[in-house]
Amino acid sequence: MQETTTRPEASDVTHTGAMADDAQRSPRTPKHKTVLMCRPEHFTVTSAINVWMDPSKPTSTARALEQWHALHDAYASLGYDVELIDPIAGLDDMVYAANGGFTLDGKAYGAKFTYAERQPEGPAYMAWFEANGFEVHRPRHVNEGEGDMLLSRGAILAGHGFRTSLESHDELRGIFDREVVSLRLVDPRFYHLDTAMAILDDEQIAYLPAAFDEAGRRELERRYPDAILVDEADASVLGLNSFGDGCTMVIAERATGFARQLAERGYETIGLDLSELLLGGGGIKCCTLELRR
Ligand code: ARG
Repeated sequence: MQETTTRPEASDVTHTGAMADDAQRSPRTPKHKTVLMCRPEHFTVTSAINVWMDPSKPTSTARALEQWHALHDAYASLGYDVELIDPIAGLDDMVYAANGGFTLDGKAYGAKFTYAERQPEGPAYMAWFEANGFEVHRPRHVNEGEGDMLLSRGAILAGHGFRTSLESHDELRGIFDREVVSLRLVDPRFYHLDTAMAILDDEQIAYLPAAFDEAGRRELERRYPDAILVDEADASVLGLNSFGDGCTMVIAERATGFARQLAERGYETIGLDLSELLLGGGGIKCCTLELRR
């Protein structure tokens, strides 16, 4: 499952955050992560299923691969286990593995995509889950996996409004027997929950309040009074579309304000440029599906 990849140039990876000096190092302990990724071998933009995509703009598969490898290597440097699913020709968006399903307690809830362009990905990811030890639950309702389902404090925060249906939240409850908190997304730029919210560790989150409806904002304020509130500028470079191990967050390098906020709270950050994959409307977290066996 592992494969060797080219190391990123030193300049591709910028380490910032809670100081190199060991004495000042944050007391946070990293959690070992296992993730699934898909090489963007067939990445291109041929349709516009979200507002970031413009098929008339040129894309470079080579650049996408380079940037994706830098992300893969950042995860490897943090000690993550990175597993890979084979990309399929014609599925431009398969690199955005977060949408391939949602896994927890050894179970995988399969994805059922909104748009025809991505629908064949659902069975492809389910076949991978089956072959890799998960108890697979075939979806009855439209949902785009971990793109809209994030685990926090043992509960599943679930987005709806653009891609994932509210009905699928009930399916989630039935399969995983966890609290499911439905949050309505209202800004088309932040059409998946993982573009509007980041999980920082077992306790804390960061989010863009304006991406949620009034009820969602109230619910998030009540549950997470100390959350990091990210501003529009950082969210607009998909700064929230980030992933970490509770100690180091891998984030879009252009989200400099978010990087500062994280450093103030004692998180380390690794900044990466995923600008090519942003042409498809995705970033770091979109390329990452957490595997919880
Ligand atoms: N082009 C893809 C789509 O619109 C991007 C998916 C981004 N994934 C995510 N988890 N936010 O479906």
